Amino acid sequence: MNPEIRVDRLLGEASRLLVRSLDATEARAEAEILLSATLGRARSWLFAFADAEVDAELAHQFRTLCERRAQGEPIAYLLGHREFWGMRLEVNACTLIPRHDTERLVELALERLPTDRPCQVLDLGTGSGAIALALASERPRARVLATDRSEGALEVARRNARALGLANVECVQSDWFDEVPRGLRFDLIVSNPPYIAEGDPHLGQGDCRHEPLSALVADAQGLSDLQTLVAQAPQWLTPGAWLLLEHGWDQAAAVRALLGASGLIDVASWQDLAGVDRVSGGRSAGD
Ligand SMILES: C[S@@+](CC[C@H](N)C(=O)[O-])C[C@H]1O[C@@H](n2cnc3c(N)ncnc32)[C@H](O)[C@@H]1O
Repeated sequence: MNPEIRVDRLLGEASRLLVRSLDATEARAEAEILLSATLGRARSWLFAFADAEVDAELAHQFRTLCERRAQGEPIAYLLGHREFWGMRLEVNACTLIPRHDTERLVELALERLPTDRPCQVLDLGTGSGAIALALASERPRARVLATDRSEGALEVARRNARALGLANVECVQSDWFDEVPRGLRFDLIVSNPPYIAEGDPHLGQGDCRHEPLSALVADAQGLSDLQTLVAQAPQWLTPGAWLLLEHGWDQAAAVRALLGASGLIDVASWQDLAGVDRVSGGRSAGD
């Protein structure tokens, strides 16, 4: 028996490493999550078998994961998945790690989608597919077109759709609206586009350090992609349909001004759980 690779010893060692960059509760929780993933066991098993000896190769793999986590690699990339809207989504370095804040956009979208008839939805910049898949799972009669410029992200989104058995989502590579089939019109358009300004200090913190810059950063103080989407979206909406956009904590007034100038009506912003305006939208006035 090698006591150095007992479950409880490995967890203690990992917690001491991770606490250099995380608080003590997070450090312990992440150590447990990484060890349970490495061993293919539930977290509860770690408590029931705290004195079990771990296979030496698996102990090595676990220590490597903890080193990478201590260097700042997102735990979602190390595990290869993240929970969003109750779904386990594959993520990798090609995709943004879906944020719980974005579930607010999903809620607002669902309030505007019919439950009793087919409808067409467009999710621009789908990444792992988070928003598109959440909407498709809640509205089986919706057809959801999910686009992204990154083929790597779309491959992940397609695998997520397949794994969740969501056949009502189609993933298409497109620079915003460029490859969206002409003639299609949507009953709802949603997007969580890049909106962080170049040089923003958040880019040097936490998970952002490892996520694709193309998923995070936009020109014009973070507004350039939002400007493009607001300028082009109205012509793709059916009469009365909504455009809903996630944006940064300080961008709501600017986005509302863009939405108003584009001719959309009922322009408004909605708050996240912290009371910050994080989604803005407007509705097509119709013909
Ligand atoms: C902030 S991430 C959002 C990802 C996902 N919707 C989510 O909420 O987790 C922005 C996404 O927009 C995509 N993107 C950036 N520029 C784009 C463009 N010009 N056309 C299409 N997609 C773009 C990125 O590849 C990235 O997946």
